[in-house]
Amino acid sequence: EKGGHRHWMAKEIAEQPAVLDQALQHYIRDADLVMPNDAVDFAKVNRVVMVACGTAYYACLVAKYWIERLANLPVEVDVASEFRYREPPIPEGTLAVFVSQSGETADTLAALNYCKGKCPIVAVVNVEGSSIARAADVVLPILAGREIGVASTKAFTCQLAVLAVLALKAARDRGTLTAEQMDAHLDTLTRIPALIAQALNIEDELRDIARDLSEARDILFLGRGAMYPLALEGALKLKEISYIHAEGYASGELKHGPIALVDDSVPVIVFAPTDPLFGKTVSNMQEVMARGGKVVLVSDTQGLSSQRTTWHTAQMPDVAELWAPILYAVPAQLLAYHTAIAKGTDVDQPRNLAKSVTVE
Ligand code: F6R
Repeated sequence: EKGGHRHWMAKEIAEQPAVLDQALQHYIRDADLVMPNDAVDFAKVNRVVMVACGTAYYACLVAKYWIERLANLPVEVDVASEFRYREPPIPEGTLAVFVSQSGETADTLAALNYCKGKCPIVAVVNVEGSSIARAADVVLPILAGREIGVASTKAFTCQLAVLAVLALKAARDRGTLTAEQMDAHLDTLTRIPALIAQALNIEDELRDIARDLSEARDILFLGRGAMYPLALEGALKLKEISYIHAEGYASGELKHGPIALVDDSVPVIVFAPTDPLFGKTVSNMQEVMARGGKVVLVSDTQGLSSQRTTWHTAQMPDVAELWAPILYAVPAQLLAYHTAIAKGTDVDQPRNLAKSVTVE
């Protein structure tokens, strides 16, 4: 039933090229965006709020970079448990987006109900008949198929894929991209599943790195721009299943505190594809190495060629800068998975966690 895999999580990681392809084909046909007829018109929206919990919240943080950049539309992101009790103002022109794999998360549902009647509501869910789907005005299924492992993997990348499509739809409605730019983005997005399949091929290297990581007590994850939420997701995944203390930080925040933790016992995992900010991330990495910190650099050929003194490297395929977070989710998942295996923990049923958090 696990398709020859030892764990549901391994199966669900391996399924990603196929399910992502399916999700993208649902929303992109003949090189054009396909959205439900009643999908919201972003030309009438002047602000987006996105609300979720855990991994789904990190997917929203990535989407903020995309929607702001592609559609020139301000986006606020909040965790549902804060949003619901803060009862924030919902001014005219707001669109609210709720993201939930299960569609049953109590805090996310309560946050949605707070917005009901105040603004249009989009739900991005995996379970189509779920409470959150039923309460929304527009439902965008992520089509990941049933996710059984408690640690979310394929749902995260499918959430990102659907949010990428939503960002492109926002750009189209608002006329912020030329036809050529739109075509190029659609083209690079539809190539992501094949790149994910390539990224899965570096599993052996990641397993070796994970064996070393499993001896650490604390691990830091760093990223800039849309890689910052990936750093948060990498840290969450690792702590959930390996029980190693891990924190994700925006690379630029390092010197504002967390660098005090760094010594030769602390691995620092850096997600840094070659992009305009790469040089800045390298200087953050050098600050870590100057204090004995053990850097694991996850980057592409060009990024890795400039760095020789890191502890470990993981070489990723080249990817269009904008969509890199979808691809880099894979090493984040595999590092967590193999670290947990090395520690001998129960990967599919981590202690204290439930797949669906239907109570606060
Ligand atoms: C992490 C994880 C959780 C969920 C969170 C929200 O691996 O699975 O952080 O992402 O509990 O769940 P959903 O998406 O069902 O609302």
